[in-house]
Amino acid sequence: MSLQDLLAVVPSGSEEQALVRAIDWTRLPRHVAIIMDGNGRWAKLRHKRRVEGHRAGIASVRDVVETSARLGLQVLTLYAFSVENWKRPKTEVSTLMALLKRYLRIELDTLLRNNIRFRVIGRMDELPIDVQKELQRGMDRTAHATGLLFNIALNYGGRAEITDAVRRLATDLLANGRDAGHIDEAMLSSYLYTAGQPDPDLLIRTSGELRISNFLLWQIAYAEIWVTEVLWPDFRRRHLLQAIADYQKRERRYGGIAPPTA
Ligand code: IPE
Ligand code: IPE
Ligand code: MG
Repeated sequence: MSLQDLLAVVPSGSEEQALVRAIDWTRLPRHVAIIMDGNGRWAKLRHKRRVEGHRAGIASVRDVVETSARLGLQVLTLYAFSVENWKRPKTEVSTLMALLKRYLRIELDTLLRNNIRFRVIGRMDELPIDVQKELQRGMDRTAHATGLLFNIALNYGGRAEITDAVRRLATDLLANGRDAGHIDEAMLSSYLYTAGQPDPDLLIRTSGELRISNFLLWQIAYAEIWVTEVLWPDFRRRHLLQAIADYQKRERRYGGIAPPTA
Protein backbone atom coordinates (compact mmCIF):
# COMPACT_ATOMS: atom_id res chain seq x y z
CA MET A 1 0.00 0.00 0.00
CA SER A 2 1.12 3.57 -0.40
CA LEU A 3 0.55 7.28 -0.12
CA GLN A 4 -1.57 7.05 -3.27
CA ASP A 5 -3.83 4.43 -1.68
CA LEU A 6 -4.64 6.73 1.18
CA LEU A 7 -4.88 9.92 -0.84
CA ALA A 8 -7.39 8.14 -3.04
CA VAL A 9 -9.87 7.94 -0.16
CA VAL A 10 -9.40 11.28 1.61
CA PRO A 11 -11.23 14.38 0.37
CA SER A 12 -8.87 16.87 -1.25
CA GLY A 13 -8.27 20.00 0.78
CA SER A 14 -9.42 18.26 3.97
CA GLU A 15 -7.69 18.15 7.34
CA GLU A 16 -7.24 14.42 6.65
CA GLN A 17 -5.38 15.11 3.45
CA ALA A 18 -3.01 17.43 5.30
CA LEU A 19 -2.44 14.69 7.89
CA VAL A 20 -1.70 12.11 5.21
CA ARG A 21 0.80 14.45 3.59
CA ALA A 22 2.49 15.12 6.93
CA ILE A 23 3.22 11.43 7.53
CA ASP A 24 6.81 10.25 7.16
CA TRP A 25 6.41 7.02 5.20
CA THR A 26 9.88 5.86 6.12
CA ARG A 27 9.08 5.92 9.87
CA LEU A 28 5.71 4.26 10.22
CA PRO A 29 5.06 2.21 13.35
CA ARG A 30 5.26 -1.46 12.44
CA HIS A 31 2.67 -2.49 14.99
CA VAL A 32 -0.19 -0.36 16.33
CA ALA A 33 -2.23 -1.68 19.27
CA ILE A 34 -5.50 -0.09 20.37
CA ILE A 35 -7.51 -0.30 23.59
CA MET A 36 -10.97 0.43 22.19
CA ASP A 37 -12.71 2.06 25.14
CA GLY A 38 -15.66 4.33 25.80
CA ASN A 39 -18.54 2.56 24.04
CA GLY A 40 -20.69 2.63 27.19
CA ARG A 41 -20.09 6.34 27.78
CA TRP A 42 -20.82 7.09 24.13
CA ALA A 43 -24.22 5.38 24.49
CA LYS A 44 -24.95 7.04 27.83
CA LEU A 45 -24.36 10.49 26.36
CA ARG A 46 -27.06 9.68 23.82
CA HIS A 47 -29.44 8.15 26.38
CA LYS A 48 -29.06 4.78 24.72
CA ARG A 49 -28.30 1.34 26.11
CA ARG A 50 -24.61 0.38 26.46
CA VAL A 51 -24.88 -2.21 23.72
CA GLU A 52 -25.74 0.55 21.23
CA GLY A 53 -22.26 1.91 21.91
CA HIS A 54 -20.74 -1.46 21.04
CA ARG A 55 -22.83 -1.60 17.87
CA ALA A 56 -21.68 1.88 16.86
CA GLY A 57 -18.05 0.91 17.55
CA ILE A 58 -18.05 -1.49 14.61
CA ALA A 59 -17.83 1.37 12.11
CA SER A 60 -14.68 2.55 13.91
CA VAL A 61 -13.16 -0.94 13.67
CA ARG A 62 -13.88 -1.02 9.95
CA ASP A 63 -12.32 2.41 9.39
CA VAL A 64 -9.20 1.67 11.42
CA VAL A 65 -8.60 -1.76 9.84
CA GLU A 66 -8.96 -0.34 6.34
CA THR A 67 -6.71 2.64 7.08
CA SER A 68 -4.04 0.43 8.65
CA ALA A 69 -4.02 -1.74 5.53
CA ARG A 70 -3.78 1.30 3.26
CA LEU A 71 -0.95 2.71 5.35
CA GLY A 72 0.91 -0.57 4.96
CA LEU A 73 1.25 -1.27 8.69
CA GLN A 74 2.53 -4.75 9.46
CA VAL A 75 0.37 -5.45 12.50
CA LEU A 76 -2.78 -3.97 14.03
CA THR A 77 -4.02 -5.36 17.36
CA LEU A 78 -7.46 -4.40 18.69
CA TYR A 79 -8.48 -5.15 22.28
CA ALA A 80 -12.10 -6.27 22.01
CA PHE A 81 -12.79 -8.35 25.13
CA SER A 82 -10.67 -8.87 28.22
CA VAL A 83 -10.63 -11.84 30.60
CA GLU A 84 -12.08 -9.38 33.12
CA ASN A 85 -15.00 -8.37 30.87
CA TRP A 86 -16.94 -11.53 31.84
CA LYS A 87 -17.86 -9.56 34.98
CA ARG A 88 -20.32 -7.53 32.90
CA PRO A 89 -24.05 -8.30 32.71
CA LYS A 90 -24.79 -11.49 30.74
CA THR A 91 -26.84 -9.65 28.13
CA GLU A 92 -24.00 -7.22 27.41
CA VAL A 93 -21.54 -10.10 27.01
CA SER A 94 -23.83 -12.06 24.71
CA THR A 95 -24.51 -8.98 22.58
CA LEU A 96 -20.77 -8.40 22.25
CA MET A 97 -20.30 -12.00 21.09
CA ALA A 98 -23.16 -11.70 18.60
CA LEU A 99 -21.74 -8.45 17.22
CA LEU A 100 -18.37 -10.09 16.80
CA LYS A 101 -19.85 -12.96 14.82
CA ARG A 102 -21.78 -10.59 12.62
CA TYR A 103 -18.76 -8.37 12.04
CA LEU A 104 -16.75 -11.35 10.81
CA ARG A 105 -19.50 -12.62 8.53
CA ILE A 106 -19.93 -9.22 6.93
CA GLU A 107 -16.27 -8.23 6.77
CA LEU A 108 -14.59 -11.45 5.68
CA ASP A 109 -14.78 -10.57 1.99
CA THR A 110 -13.34 -7.11 2.64
CA LEU A 111 -10.49 -8.63 4.66
CA LEU A 112 -9.73 -11.03 1.82
CA ARG A 113 -9.95 -8.30 -0.82
CA ASN A 114 -7.49 -6.17 1.15
CA ASN A 115 -5.05 -9.07 1.70
CA ILE A 116 -5.56 -8.87 5.48
CA ARG A 117 -4.69 -11.84 7.72
CA PHE A 118 -7.01 -12.21 10.67
CA ARG A 119 -5.87 -13.75 13.98
CA VAL A 120 -7.33 -14.14 17.44
CA ILE A 121 -5.16 -13.69 20.51
CA GLY A 122 -6.53 -14.79 23.87
CA ARG A 123 -8.07 -17.85 25.46
CA MET A 124 -10.23 -18.63 22.47
CA ASP A 125 -11.24 -22.07 23.77
CA GLU A 126 -13.34 -20.44 26.53
CA LEU A 127 -15.52 -18.50 24.07
CA PRO A 128 -18.97 -19.80 23.01
CA ILE A 129 -18.54 -22.59 20.48
CA ASP A 130 -20.46 -20.81 17.68
CA VAL A 131 -18.20 -17.78 18.09
CA GLN A 132 -15.12 -20.00 18.03
CA LYS A 133 -16.28 -21.56 14.76
CA GLU A 134 -16.78 -18.17 13.11
CA LEU A 135 -13.38 -16.98 14.32
CA GLN A 136 -11.67 -20.14 13.13
CA ARG A 137 -13.29 -19.75 9.73
CA GLY A 138 -12.01 -16.17 9.54
CA MET A 139 -8.50 -17.29 10.44
CA ASP A 140 -8.50 -20.22 8.02
CA ARG A 141 -9.86 -18.22 5.09
CA THR A 142 -7.32 -15.39 5.54
CA ALA A 143 -4.35 -17.58 6.52
CA HIS A 144 -2.54 -16.99 3.24
CA ALA A 145 -2.95 -13.22 3.14
CA THR A 146 0.38 -11.41 3.06
CA GLY A 147 -0.69 -7.84 3.90
CA LEU A 148 -1.74 -6.43 7.25
CA LEU A 149 -1.87 -8.86 10.18
CA PHE A 150 -5.02 -8.00 12.13
CA ASN A 151 -4.97 -9.45 15.66
CA ILE A 152 -8.13 -9.27 17.66
CA ALA A 153 -7.64 -9.71 21.42
CA LEU A 154 -10.58 -11.74 22.75
CA ASN A 155 -10.89 -13.19 26.20
CA TYR A 156 -7.41 -11.73 26.42
CA GLY A 157 -5.39 -10.86 29.51
CA GLY A 158 -1.72 -9.97 29.59
CA ARG A 159 -1.11 -11.94 32.79
CA ALA A 160 -3.09 -14.89 31.46
CA GLU A 161 -0.96 -14.82 28.30
CA ILE A 162 2.31 -14.81 30.25
CA THR A 163 1.04 -17.53 32.57
CA ASP A 164 0.01 -19.72 29.61
CA ALA A 165 3.39 -19.10 27.96
CA VAL A 166 5.37 -20.02 31.07
CA ARG A 167 3.32 -23.17 31.55
CA ARG A 168 3.97 -24.36 27.98
CA LEU A 169 7.61 -23.35 28.14
CA ALA A 170 8.16 -25.26 31.39
CA THR A 171 6.42 -28.33 29.96
CA ASP A 172 8.68 -28.26 26.88
CA LEU A 173 11.83 -27.83 28.95
CA LEU A 174 10.89 -30.76 31.16
CA ALA A 175 10.05 -32.93 28.17
CA ASN A 176 13.45 -32.17 26.65
CA GLY A 177 15.37 -32.65 29.90
CA ARG A 178 16.62 -29.04 29.90
CA ASP A 179 16.88 -26.78 32.94
CA ALA A 180 15.47 -23.32 33.61
CA GLY A 181 18.85 -21.70 32.94
CA HIS A 182 18.05 -21.95 29.23
CA ILE A 183 15.18 -19.48 29.49
CA ASP A 184 15.85 -16.06 28.00
CA GLU A 185 13.62 -13.22 26.79
CA ALA A 186 13.56 -14.42 23.20
CA MET A 187 12.52 -17.90 24.30
CA LEU A 188 9.69 -16.60 26.50
CA SER A 189 8.53 -14.26 23.69
CA SER A 190 8.30 -17.19 21.34
CA TYR A 191 5.64 -18.75 23.59
CA LEU A 192 3.37 -15.69 23.60
CA TYR A 193 0.32 -15.40 21.33
CA THR A 194 2.26 -12.77 19.38
CA ALA A 195 5.30 -14.99 18.69
CA GLY A 196 7.19 -13.78 15.65
CA GLN A 197 5.42 -10.42 15.50
CA PRO A 198 7.15 -7.09 16.15
CA ASP A 199 6.20 -5.53 19.50
CA PRO A 200 3.75 -2.60 19.34
CA ASP A 201 5.51 0.69 18.58
CA LEU A 202 2.38 2.69 19.27
CA LEU A 203 -0.31 1.97 21.86
CA ILE A 204 -3.53 3.98 21.56
CA ARG A 205 -6.27 4.18 24.18
CA THR A 206 -9.54 5.97 23.54
CA SER A 207 -11.86 7.69 26.04
CA GLY A 208 -9.12 9.25 28.16
CA GLU A 209 -8.45 6.48 30.66
CA LEU A 210 -4.80 6.42 31.74
CA ARG A 211 -4.32 2.71 32.31
CA ILE A 212 -3.27 -0.46 30.52
CA SER A 213 -6.08 -2.77 31.73
CA ASN A 214 -4.00 -5.94 31.39
CA PHE A 215 -3.24 -5.46 27.68
CA LEU A 216 -0.06 -6.85 26.07
CA LEU A 217 1.94 -6.41 29.27
CA TRP A 218 5.11 -8.03 27.95
CA GLN A 219 4.98 -6.58 24.44
CA ILE A 220 4.44 -2.90 25.30
CA ALA A 221 7.71 -2.57 27.25
CA TYR A 222 8.84 0.28 24.97
CA ALA A 223 5.64 1.23 23.14
CA GLU A 224 4.86 4.92 22.76
CA ILE A 225 1.51 5.62 24.43
CA TRP A 226 -1.10 7.93 22.91
CA VAL A 227 -4.35 8.60 24.76
CA THR A 228 -7.28 10.51 23.31
CA GLU A 229 -10.50 11.74 24.92
CA VAL A 230 -12.36 10.61 21.78
CA LEU A 231 -14.75 7.74 22.59
CA TRP A 232 -14.25 4.60 20.51
CA PRO A 233 -17.46 4.90 18.41
CA ASP A 234 -16.26 8.38 17.32
CA PHE A 235 -12.72 7.23 16.48
CA ARG A 236 -11.95 7.46 12.76
CA ARG A 237 -9.09 7.48 10.25
CA ARG A 238 -8.10 11.05 11.10
CA HIS A 239 -7.52 10.13 14.73
CA LEU A 240 -5.26 7.25 13.75
CA LEU A 241 -3.34 9.56 11.40
CA GLN A 242 -3.03 12.11 14.20
CA ALA A 243 -1.68 9.44 16.57
CA ILE A 244 0.89 8.36 13.98
CA ALA A 245 1.94 11.97 13.30
CA ASP A 246 2.44 12.52 17.05
CA TYR A 247 4.31 9.23 17.37
CA GLN A 248 6.70 10.37 14.66
CA LYS A 249 7.61 13.43 16.73
CA ARG A 250 8.64 11.32 19.71
CA GLU A 251 12.24 10.44 20.44
CA ARG A 252 12.53 6.76 21.31
CA ARG A 253 15.55 6.21 23.52
CA TYR A 254 15.14 2.67 24.87
CA GLY A 255 17.06 3.67 27.97
CA GLY A 256 19.91 5.22 26.02
CA ILE A 257 20.55 8.88 25.37
CA ALA A 258 19.56 11.07 22.43
CA PRO A 259 21.90 10.71 19.44
CA PRO A 260 24.24 13.74 19.12
CA THR A 261 22.94 16.39 16.73
CA ALA A 262 25.26 17.22 13.84
C1 IPE B 1 -15.09 -0.70 25.41
O1 IPE B 1 -16.10 0.14 25.84
C2 IPE B 1 -15.59 -2.01 24.89
C3 IPE B 1 -15.29 -3.16 25.74
C4 IPE B 1 -14.55 -3.14 26.82
C5 IPE B 1 -15.85 -4.44 25.36
P1 IPE B 1 -16.70 0.04 27.31
O2 IPE B 1 -17.88 -0.87 27.26
O3 IPE B 1 -15.66 -0.33 28.29
O4 IPE B 1 -17.19 1.53 27.52
P2 IPE B 1 -17.09 2.41 28.84
O5 IPE B 1 -15.66 2.35 29.31
O6 IPE B 1 -18.01 1.79 29.84
O7 IPE B 1 -17.51 3.78 28.41
C1 IPE C 1 -10.34 -2.52 28.43
O1 IPE C 1 -11.46 -1.76 28.65
C2 IPE C 1 -10.73 -3.79 27.70
C3 IPE C 1 -11.12 -3.61 26.31
C4 IPE C 1 -11.06 -2.51 25.63
C5 IPE C 1 -11.59 -4.80 25.67
P1 IPE C 1 -12.28 -1.84 30.01
O2 IPE C 1 -13.35 -0.82 29.91
O3 IPE C 1 -12.68 -3.23 30.27
O4 IPE C 1 -11.17 -1.43 31.08
P2 IPE C 1 -11.30 -0.84 32.54
O5 IPE C 1 -12.26 -1.71 33.28
O6 IPE C 1 -11.80 0.56 32.41
O7 IPE C 1 -9.91 -0.88 33.08
MG1 MG D 1 -14.38 0.77 29.43
